[in-house]
This record gives sequence, structure tokens and C-alpha cells, in this order.
Amino acid sequence: MEIVLSGIRPTGNLHLGNYYGAITSFLKLQEEYKSYFFIADWHSLTTHPTPENIQNSVRTILSEYLACGVDPEKATLYVQSHVPEVLELYLYLNMNAYLGELERVTSFKEKARKQPDNVNAGLLTYPTLMAADILIHRANKVPVGKDQEQNMEMARKFGRRFNTMYHTDLFPEPASFSLAKEGGIKIPGLDGSGKMGKSEGNCIYLYDEPSVIRKKVMKAVTDAGPQTPNSQRPEIIENLFTLMRVVSKPETYAYFDEKWNDCTLRYGDLKKQLAEDIVLATDPIRERIKQFYADTEYLDKVAKMGAEKARESASATLKEVRRIIGFKVY
Ligand code: TRP
Repeated sequence: MEIVLSGIRPTGNLHLGNYYGAITSFLKLQEEYKSYFFIADWHSLTTHPTPENIQNSVRTILSEYLACGVDPEKATLYVQSHVPEVLELYLYLNMNAYLGELERVTSFKEKARKQPDNVNAGLLTYPTLMAADILIHRANKVPVGKDQEQNMEMARKFGRRFNTMYHTDLFPEPASFSLAKEGGIKIPGLDGSGKMGKSEGNCIYLYDEPSVIRKKVMKAVTDAGPQTPNSQRPEIIENLFTLMRVVSKPETYAYFDEKWNDCTLRYGDLKKQLAEDIVLATDPIRERIKQFYADTEYLDKVAKMGAEKARESASATLKEVRRIIGFKVY
């Protein structure tokens, strides 16, 4: 069975964009593939978080993924730092990763510009650690966004380099695959911008209380309203309709679409309806997030089970790697 692996950077809470763009696809992947979903807490060290930051964000992500329906029995859901085998592979890969190629990675250059006082070696070797994450399970497919394409190319290059150097075919080539093609939906922001994103500050979070959701939706940017019948909608308005298509009933969407077309649409009505439908769609998830977050014992159990499954696969690969490189395996 093909192996799918996805790394999740622990950078805060899940929003509607994450949910409809990625998590719903994960729910399908866990049925169809041998899937590994892990929280990249080592990667997060490049920005020097505090111990509290780390603990809270790992706990948050675990609760939110579980609340969304990621099933720890079907997928291997684990925390990167629970699988020390990854670090040994990271070391071997680093021995054949060159300064020049690492320095040329766009995200490295960007981060170096953003944090000039903290251009650490972990930042430079971010792509090698990511390659180790992927190669340790000999993953075939990795769902990533466009921003990770260069890191994926590096992972393929490092795997290939190892194979060539040691005349082996140990590492399959990990293909990037697009969640958009797997039914993922791009969710627009509420500020008229193209995409809902944490850094854009235009998000509705899955844990947002209904009152917060209503406030955010009512504040969404609109314009003067439809002027001519059946006109094309400007992007900021189309965004609201896109959200509605995702969370509302088809007849609700059709109703407001008609109002737009005959120029009788009042944005206040549309927003009220949209807010209620978002509340309804997220209600059960919100409740489950709270339950999981409070249940430390269960979260520990899930993490432990994930670590065991991940380490089994990781140590099998590492054993091969050690033997191939020339180290004795006992
Ligand atoms: N770099 C990824 C991101 O920023 C996170 C990540 C770490 C990852 N290791 C991975 C993704 C391995 C896929 C596979 O989103």
C-alpha cells in the first residue's frame, strides 16, 4: 500500500481554510493509504519557542486534528520529537547536503531576512530535517502547498543522492501531491483577500465561539451592492458566496444568488445567514476540541500509540540505512 505523509507545523489553531483545504482530505487519505500525520515540533525550534509554547501548541494541534476526525487507529498520528530515529537520518543526510544548495533555498533566504539575529544552522538545514521526516517512512506521497515545493525538491534530491551514492534503491521518490486535486477547497479570507491565512489575520478559527464568528462575518468587507442584473460578482463578494457554497445548504446559496442577480441582495442578510451556517458547521468540532483539549490522559495515549507505530517504521528504515552506510547493526 502506498504511503502518505504529512507534516504539520505547530503554528496555532486550525481555521476554516485548513479544515476545508486540507483536513477534510486527510480524512479521505487515512482511509485509502497507509498514512503518517505528524506534528513538526523540532522544526518549530528554529524560532526558539518557550517550553510552554511547545507543550501548548502540540496539545492544541492534537486536540484539533482529533476533533476534525483524524483517526489515530487508522492513521499514524505522532509528534516528530517522539521519533528519535529521524534525527539520525537527518545527520546522515546532512553529510551529503551542501552549503551552497541549502543557502539557495528561498524560504531560508526569506527567514534569514526576517530574523537576521537568528540565522541558525537549524534554519539552514530545515530542508534536510524535512527530507528525513519523509524518507524515514519511505513515503511515496506528500500533500503540500506550493510554498513547500522547493523543500520537496530537496527531499527528492537528498533521497536520490543517497541511493546513487550507495547503489541502492532504498528511498522511493516522494511525490508532492495537491490537496486541491483531492477535493480540498481554497477558502477565501473575510477581508477580500484571496486566501484565509493566519498571517493575513482574516481567519475564522474552528474554536471560535459563535459570538466571535458572527462578529467576524458581519465585519467582512463588501461594496455598494449589485447595480445591474446578472452582473459578475467582484472578488470580495464572490468570496462570501464561496464560503456559503461550502457551509450552507444548496437552496440557501441559490436564494442569495438569485437576490444578487435581481439586485435585491442586502449584504446584512447574507452575512447573518452565512454566520449562522458557519456556526452550525463548526459546532460539533468546537465541542470536541474542548473535550479533547481537557483530556490530557487521552491525548497522551494517542501520542504514545502514534510514537510506537512511527518508531516501528522508522527503525526498520534506519537499520537498512546503517547497514548500507557501513555501520554495524546489532
Ligand atoms: N515544512 C512544512 C511546513 O512548513 C512542515 C513539514 C515538516 C513537513 N516536515 C515535513 C511537511 C515533512 C511535509 C513533510 O508546512
